[in-house]
Parts: sequence; structure tokens; C-alpha cells
Amino acid sequence: MEKKELLYEGKGKKIFLTDNDNFLIAEFKDELTAFDATKKGFEKGKGALNCQISSELFELLEKNGIPTHFVKKLSDNEMLIKKADMIAIEVVVRNIATGSLTKRLGIPEGKKLPFALVEFYYKNDELHDPLINDEHALILELAKDEAELEELKRLGREINVILKSFFDKRDLILVDFKVEFGRDKEGKIILADEISPDSCRFWDKKTGEKLDKDRFRQDLGNVKVAYEEVLRRIVE
Ligand code: TMP
Repeated sequence: MEKKELLYEGKGKKIFLTDNDNFLIAEFKDELTAFDATKKGFEKGKGALNCQISSELFELLEKNGIPTHFVKKLSDNEMLIKKADMIAIEVVVRNIATGSLTKRLGIPEGKKLPFALVEFYYKNDELHDPLINDEHALILELAKDEAELEELKRLGREINVILKSFFDKRDLILVDFKVEFGRDKEGKIILADEISPDSCRFWDKKTGEKLDKDRFRQDLGNVKVAYEEVLRRIVE
């Protein structure tokens, strides 16, 4: 498939048109951003790592019954994906309290939650991706109806069950993650965007070491080494 003009550039990826209207190409970037892109960084090879990690995880999820936009990996940092009408909701699933949950509600850092918490954030840079409830999502017309919101929650929880057990076997704790969904040609909801250490938090089960973008957010160093370690555990 031929790569055509740039359709959209996000913080972590560029999306290109192809000569087939049903498919796009996602190119993963080496840039890192945090806190609404007020903090910027660059890590050579990060894009390739996220492309490989995302490809592995999309395949794992597909095998376990989650529909995704993933078609195939094309190169080190390029992925062929199905075109989808993106839903402007960031679905965050949390197993352990940290990050904005700790800040917003004062739940102690590292506390294991009694059940997986699913949250919706409105994907809107100008508004700084605010936390929203179901009614906000409907009023903003981000989702068609309540059934669609329930489907996002169901898929978020299901993805959590699959990934949590996969990473647990590899001595990594899946602390929380963010996923995004779109509607395919038939209107079916499919998992889109990426699943990588940019969008998940992983803690080493034995040492508690952070192996994700918090290393960049908190200036802990060794960002790429951490992403490489996550990939090593996925493919081992
Ligand atoms: P938070 O604790 O900052 O709300 O983040 C929750 C999870 O979502 C964490 O795994 C990081 C991920 N995330 C993103 O992928 N993109 C974002 O813009 C934010 C704020 C969080």
C-alpha cells in the first residue's frame, strides 16, 4: 500500500493517508511530551519501540477477542491501520492509585483499588482533557448513546483483564492505562491509537521500578532503557 499525504499529526504519531480509502499508516515519533506538552523531550528509537510494543499488544488483544484497528507492522516505526471515526474520549482504566487520581481525590499513592476504575476524559487540548461523566459525554455528543458508553467501559475492563494477566506473568504490574476507540465502516467500536509505555504505567513486580513515561514526566532518566525492558518482557 502506498503512503500518501499527512492526514493528522498528534503528539506521539503522524497519520498518513494511503492509496486505499479504508486504510491509514501510523508513524510513531521519537518526541516525548507530558503535562499537555508543556514538557518536551526526544528519545531516539522511542517511536520504533512504541510501534513494536503496540503491534505485539494489538495482536494479543485481537487473539483474545478485542477488535482493533491494527492490520500489520510495516517498518520499524510504521503500522498499517484500519480507518476509523475516532471517539474523542480517553478511556482510562486504573488498578492502582497514582498520577491524577492521587492528586484529585487524595487516594494514597500505590493503593490497590478494590475494583478496576474506568474513567472518561474529554480529548480536547484547549480544555486540558478534563475528566467527564457519562452525561457530559452525551451532551457533548462524543458518543451516540448510553449503550456506546457502556461498550467503551466493557471493552476497557476486558482489555484490562487480558493485559493485567499477560504482564503479571512477566513480573510487571499494570498500574493504569489509557485507550482510545473509533468506529469502523460498519459503526462497530474498535480499539485504536496505541498501547505503549507512553499510555500505560508499568511497575516492576519485584523492585517497584517505574518502566513507563513517568520516567520522563518525573525526570528519572533511562527512559529508553525502560521501554526496551517492557518490550523484552513482552517478547520473551
Ligand atoms: P493520569 O494519572 O495522569 O490521569 O494518567 C492515567 C493513565 O493514562 C496513565 O497510564 C497515563 C495515561 N495518559 C495518557 O496516555 N495520556 C494522557 O494525556 C494522560 C493525562 C494520561
